Amino acid sequence: MKKILAALLIVAASGTALAEDGAALFKSKCAACHGPDGKGTTPMGKALKVKSLAGTKLSAAEIEKIASQGKPGTRMIAIKGLTPEQLKAVAAHVKALK
Ligand code: HEC
Repeated sequence: MKKILAALLIVAASGTALAEDGAALFKSKCAACHGPDGKGTTPMGKALKVKSLAGTKLSAAEIEKIASQGKPGTRMIAIKGLTPEQLKAVAAHVKALK
């Protein structure tokens, strides 16, 4: 639990991503929970029960919405501080995960 809280703080503190690059954004904003490859096989991913994002059936628009607003009923929090362009870039990266 302590580890999860520490990671949440890191996620919250890294609110200003300069890179517009989807891969870099995913690494800094999402990988703590979803794992670098999006498969959620990290200790954090397992603790939070994340499903693999690789090969997701979600549309880019749905991914943008979940990333910016969170996923109700899960521990997926709204990721703050991303511009619309950054949300698009990160969603495109998620769609491309294999
Ligand atoms: C604090 C941990 C955490 C962070 C950070 C996080 N997620 Fe999640 N995410 C979750 C959890 C928990 C779920 C819910 C379980 C699931 O559906 O896999 C989830 C679910 C999702 C889903 C829905 C998957 C599905 O099949 O319904 C998407 C899409 C997603 N996250 C994208 C992102 C993106 C993009 C980022 C970065 C901008 C991100 N997440 C950052 C924890 C996190």
